[in-house]
Amino acid sequence: MSAPAAPQATPVSRATARAHPSLALIKYWGKLDSGVNIPATSSLAVTLAALHTTTTVSPAPRDAFVLNGEETGASGARSGVFGLLDRIWHDVHGAESVTRPPLFVESRNNFPTAAGLASSASGYAALTRAAAAAFGDEPSGQDEPVRMTQWSALARTGSGSAARSVWGGFTAWEAGATAAATVHDETWWPELRVVVLPLSAEAKAIGSREAMNRTRDTSPYYSAWVADAPHLFDAARRALAVRDLDTLGPLVRASYMRMFASMLGATPPIVYWLPASVATIHALEALRAEGVPAWETMDAGPQVKVITIASAVDAILKRVSAFCVAEPVVSAVGPAAHLVTDQHATA
Ligand code: PMV
Repeated sequence: MSAPAAPQATPVSRATARAHPSLALIKYWGKLDSGVNIPATSSLAVTLAALHTTTTVSPAPRDAFVLNGEETGASGARSGVFGLLDRIWHDVHGAESVTRPPLFVESRNNFPTAAGLASSASGYAALTRAAAAAFGDEPSGQDEPVRMTQWSALARTGSGSAARSVWGGFTAWEAGATAAATVHDETWWPELRVVVLPLSAEAKAIGSREAMNRTRDTSPYYSAWVADAPHLFDAARRALAVRDLDTLGPLVRASYMRMFASMLGATPPIVYWLPASVATIHALEALRAEGVPAWETMDAGPQVKVITIASAVDAILKRVSAFCVAEPVVSAVGPAAHLVTDQHATA
């Protein structure tokens, strides 16, 4: 009797992908589960062209993850990256396939990591897109939307908001859904701008996963947040469908304010805001009273992002730049996660 054939080594090639953060207009805050990031609330988001993560996956003698030029040792980020790579490998090659070979992952953000600018969204989306290509998952044009839904579901397991970053333009990720979906592509609203105001360079003290779970488990306002969220989502989708910023803006504000209200009720309370965040919120209120469309939102960090139109950007920058610790970034609506050739990866 001959010995069973050794499993064939499956080749891995080198691939580089770029993805852009997904900024929620209507927020996801709270998980139905504790492990695989199924949202309790539906979110509606815009992909930001000006910010990006570029990630290369290549074969290597051992697993290594280099983020912004520095190798990460044993950490949540490292296990998140290689855990996701295992899942993508088995998705491409089947659950019974041979073990994933060791990989070198190099990732670079053109903006501060872990300071509430959604680096995990673009990071896990770029990783998913690059790894799928490195493992040979190259769909033909017709299969692409189906594969993108699958990549969205995989990226979600690294970080919830990454489910949205796989897509470009405007995306919806509905409560209970395993993947996000496209609502309008990146050409939908050419005048829309997001002004990103970096108000602190510090990494956040508490990650979004822990903060969400603490809010769900201890805040008496969490159930009210979840109960109220669907009507904001539905109304914002309708306003987006007719590009009505005067209607969308107040809904954007209500969503982030109510999200933070639920966090303030947690034990111990979660306070991401800094004095500069509050000063910026008041300055934008004064601008709106003068007729400038400037509707802010915030995420799990102190930074403020302003939803506006191109013609109002200068007035906003003039009023709030003094609060910033780095140059504000003005972004139009961005594309889906996509492969890039290595020459373009440093651009
Ligand atoms: O999926 P995470 O861990 O990046 O959490 C995202 C949470 C918020 O940014 C606050 C809201 C959102 O919908 O992006």
